[in-house]
Amino acid sequence: MTPPNPLKNDLFLRALRREPVERTPVWLMRQAGRYLAEYRATRAKAGDFLALCKNPELACEVTMQPIERFGFDAAILFSDILTVPDAMGLGLHFVDNEGPAFHHPLRTEEAILKLRVPEPEAELGYVMDAVRTIKTALAGRVPLIGFAGSPWTLATYMIEGAGSRDFVHAKRLRYDRPDLLKTLLSKLAEAVALYLAAQVRAGADALMVFDTWGGALDPQGYREFSLAAMQDVIERLRVLAPGVPVILFSKGAAAHLGEMSRSGAAALGVDWTASLADARKAVGGRVALQGNLDPTSLFARPEKVRELVAGVLADYGHGPGHIFNLGHGILQHTPIESVAALVEAVRDLSPAYQQAS
Ligand code: CP3
Repeated sequence: MTPPNPLKNDLFLRALRREPVERTPVWLMRQAGRYLAEYRATRAKAGDFLALCKNPELACEVTMQPIERFGFDAAILFSDILTVPDAMGLGLHFVDNEGPAFHHPLRTEEAILKLRVPEPEAELGYVMDAVRTIKTALAGRVPLIGFAGSPWTLATYMIEGAGSRDFVHAKRLRYDRPDLLKTLLSKLAEAVALYLAAQVRAGADALMVFDTWGGALDPQGYREFSLAAMQDVIERLRVLAPGVPVILFSKGAAAHLGEMSRSGAAALGVDWTASLADARKAVGGRVALQGNLDPTSLFARPEKVRELVAGVLADYGHGPGHIFNLGHGILQHTPIESVAALVEAVRDLSPAYQQAS
């Protein structure tokens, strides 16, 4: 166990508990990444993206870069959701400009039944080492977010063998062999819960589950295959890592926010296609909300960015329980000035909203 380190800035954790804060905390999904020159330099030193993930010192270096540059209120472990299927033996690699792919996609019943749940400290030790190294480097400056992919989102990559637009193989399983898909999701829920609990033991202060492709499912499918498996993860974490807040982010799933708010999560990520005011009504004060500026809006001029930030804050409205973020990951060619303008606008404009109306 890492010795407890009192946090100097706990705005993010207080907002997750829906406690009053002086201003709205802000961090960005994918805040360590290619839009930063210093990230590109460290990545070049590592060789490639996966080598960067597997090198705890360098993973720590890139985690700290956006904290140093912009003073975000939370750090997020630098890693990838696909480390878990990699540890399950699927052979992860990244094809330049095409994204992730697996050497051994799951295409047979036998392959699914043979899958083994990895032991995090042994088979994903490099991630736990990164968490410990980052915790030491942060020295209590801001909280550290650990994360994993949702079982359904991991399953889509594992079954398709790469990114996909239509998820033909994964959805064929969903319709023709729901029993087999559930067997896979249940193994993944166990793997994800053990992985996240190990990150907490290594020092993570909060956890986020990225369900990037939940919104690709039909409503019944979302409930049965995406949300149910995330709930399985949360229930396991209640035992394995009691009291640690979990943020669920299902992209494209605004219609399901009400149900998600009953999952036991502390907060929900909201993408930019939803209004935060509507989201707030849907969740009825049961969870905090994180979001939701359109990442592409950062390509507008900085004055416009400030106006759009003001719009997101006003949309959430008065009172606690808002964490400012984008509606999805920051894009590769995002201008640095826009990110600086975003952070400055949140700092300037949010205190007015933190008082009850
Ligand atoms: O938020 C952070 O700063 C933490 C880092 C983080 C990465 N991936 C780094 C990364 C997190 C939280 C992820 C999660 C992740 N990875 C998701 C879910 C979140 C989301 O964005 O929807 C998914 C679907 C993946 C799988 C993945 N990894 C894809 C599809 C890609 C290629 C996309 C691209 O932009 O090229 C990656 C690569 C990846 N993961 C990069 C980074 C910084 C770019 C790799 C590079 O440096 O070339």
